[in-house]
Amino acid sequence: MNDAVLSFDAVRQDFPAPGASTPIRVIDGISFEVGRGQFVAVIGPSGCGKSTLLQMAAGLLMPTRGGVRHRGRAISEVNREVGFVPQQAQLFPWKTLAENVELPLLLRGVAGTERKQRVASALEAVGLTGFEQYFPGQLSGGMQKRGSIARTLIYRPDVILMDEPFGALDAQTRMVMQDDLQMLSRDAGATILFVTHDITEAVLLADSVVIMSQRPSRLLANITIDLARPRDVFEPFRNPGFDAAYDAVWSVFRSQIDIRQRLH
Ligand SMILES: Nc1ncnc2c1ncn2[C@@H]1O[C@H](COP(=O)(O)OP(=O)(O)OP(=O)(O)O)[C@@H](O)[C@H]1O
Ligand SMILES: [Mg+2]
Repeated sequence: MNDAVLSFDAVRQDFPAPGASTPIRVIDGISFEVGRGQFVAVIGPSGCGKSTLLQMAAGLLMPTRGGVRHRGRAISEVNREVGFVPQQAQLFPWKTLAENVELPLLLRGVAGTERKQRVASALEAVGLTGFEQYFPGQLSGGMQKRGSIARTLIYRPDVILMDEPFGALDAQTRMVMQDDLQMLSRDAGATILFVTHDITEAVLLADSVVIMSQRPSRLLANITIDLARPRDVFEPFRNPGFDAAYDAVWSVFRSQIDIRQRLH
């Protein structure tokens, strides 16, 4: 794809294994691309290297072999052109929620009045109005996660990496945020690489779903989801073609789960 924003080229990752003399191979040669404006979801069993892939795209980790390119350029240092929502919220504990969310604007030299307005609307968008002066330790896990999402989206990055962003949220908030993200991806044309454990979420949000195997992971399939948009995230089964798309993903993914004859 010529207009690929992110390309993973045969990436391999070996990590030192504590207590062992030889390293452990976590990712064993994975290639895929994320096109401009595309929404790509990555699913795979726990420990297969999903967060590791995102860290490579964020330039926080260099692969042992192969490489990741951003708009054709090899990523060789921290990639400041992407917004990254890590799996753990990582808000600064000594700053209030509003100060945390404001930080990227402060670093970019956005003027005070505009900063205040954008913080207010970013917090409103994630349902945290009224908690501006709270410190992260005074917020629930899901609220911290929403704060972390607001802190990334506030500077309107056109490439967004999200690591299970909605995993810690209650079911209702999760659906609202899925819907908001689908609107953002449509209206702002953002390119999104999104890690999730949830097949329904992947099928509802993505243009394509990358399925990773167990460690050492390989790419099992990259499945195009061509359901019409916007999609109904509140009642997934109402989207024409949803069942078939879900089955296409599940038929590949089930081989990675030890279901031990639970289903016949
Ligand atoms: N810095 C590190 N040093 C050594 N091993 C690591 C390091 N980072 C990750 N690993 C190992 O790499 C593997 C993949 O980790 P990763 O966090 O990418 O998995 P994941 O697919 O995101 O899992 P989950 O779904 O549970 O979040 C794990 O076995 C983990 O122990
Ligand atoms: Mg992870």
